[in-house]
Amino acid sequence: MKAIAIHRNGGPEVLEPIEIELPPPGPAQVRVRHTAIGLNFSDINVRNGGFYLGNGPKFPVILGNEAAGVVESVGAEVQGFRPGDRVAYAGTGGLFFHDTGAYAEQRNLPAACLVKLPSDISDQQAAAMMLKGLTASVVIHRCYRPKPGDVVLIHAAASGVGSLLAQWCQHLGATVIGTVGSPAKAAFAQAHGCRHTILYRQDDFVAAVKRVALEGVAAVFDGVGKDTFLPSFDCVRPFAAVVNYGNASGNVPPFNLMLLAQKGCLALHRPGFGFHAATPETRAEACGELFQLVRSGAMKVEVSRTYPLRDAALAHAEAEQGRSTGSVLLIP
Ligand SMILES: NC(=O)c1ccc[n+]([C@@H]2O[C@H](COP(=O)([O-])OP(=O)(O)OC[C@H]3O[C@@H](n4cnc5c(N)ncnc54)[C@H](OP(=O)(O)O)[C@@H]3O)[C@@H](O)[C@H]2O)c1
Repeated sequence: MKAIAIHRNGGPEVLEPIEIELPPPGPAQVRVRHTAIGLNFSDINVRNGGFYLGNGPKFPVILGNEAAGVVESVGAEVQGFRPGDRVAYAGTGGLFFHDTGAYAEQRNLPAACLVKLPSDISDQQAAAMMLKGLTASVVIHRCYRPKPGDVVLIHAAASGVGSLLAQWCQHLGATVIGTVGSPAKAAFAQAHGCRHTILYRQDDFVAAVKRVALEGVAAVFDGVGKDTFLPSFDCVRPFAAVVNYGNASGNVPPFNLMLLAQKGCLALHRPGFGFHAATPETRAEACGELFQLVRSGAMKVEVSRTYPLRDAALAHAEAEQGRSTGSVLLIP
């Protein structure tokens, strides 16, 4: 079967097609034929080698943490899944940068990481929302759950995670201010949860936030990192939550813990989706909530572009330049 692998860390050009023979699934495994594969910014970080400080992977590495598909066969000990079932997954139970392999036509996976898809959620919706939605879920359930009337700031609000988070916050009754990289992204963000948008590459976002929320916002949700992390502390009210869930612009700089006291007794969170809803039961519950948000119309999952799996390098190049809105999929 065909897959896309890297043999070293580097730019999009290190993504290469490979042909491998997949063994039968192990006793607790399920073989899944992928129909849609989610592209996540973390795939770019893994490709670049950003997560492997001092302890690199064994190449070749097949990238990818998220996909939907159809069960082809099951191992002897597997219960609850059978050939033909529609399933999806986001991560396989280990650290996401140690445990990749979704950029492939098929994959053997632990049955415990799979979620059965309801008939009203398409494969493409599932692959576009599982990992990003579970990231929004860890932010909202474990870090800060906006209350009606709260004003919250979401950086890169037109991104995959940002656009789900913005809609969820709006659904909970918050007023969402979103930063975005272009006017087109502003329009997208306004159609996906944001009441206000700020072009943060050209305008001073701290001043713009203060014009909307004089006292400061109740929470900042930041997947951008380096470029937005420190100025975000000037956007909040006392006892606010600052949540850094990603580093699209680079790692956040070292900072002094006293800043949290000086800026108003703030809470700082650095969540990861993999530690949230980590058992089959809690994962099914968290995904069930996401599916219900989509079903009810509270959350729209937008696939801005699909690429054939063989064009993964092009998809990476465009996502890395920040050209995407919503979710991007690779189709085997
Ligand atoms: N903690 C977790 O468990 C978890 C899970 C999933 C994702 N993440 C992280 O969350 C972030 C968003 O992920 P995603 O999949 O939603 O990303 P995405 O859809 O690819 O969007 C990333 C966006 O970040 C903005 N950005 C700002 N500076 C950038 C730069 N220097 N280069 C590229 N983009 C830049 C761009 O939007 P603008 O043009 O609007 O600036 C870009 O579109 C990433 O950092 C990712 O690693 C974390």
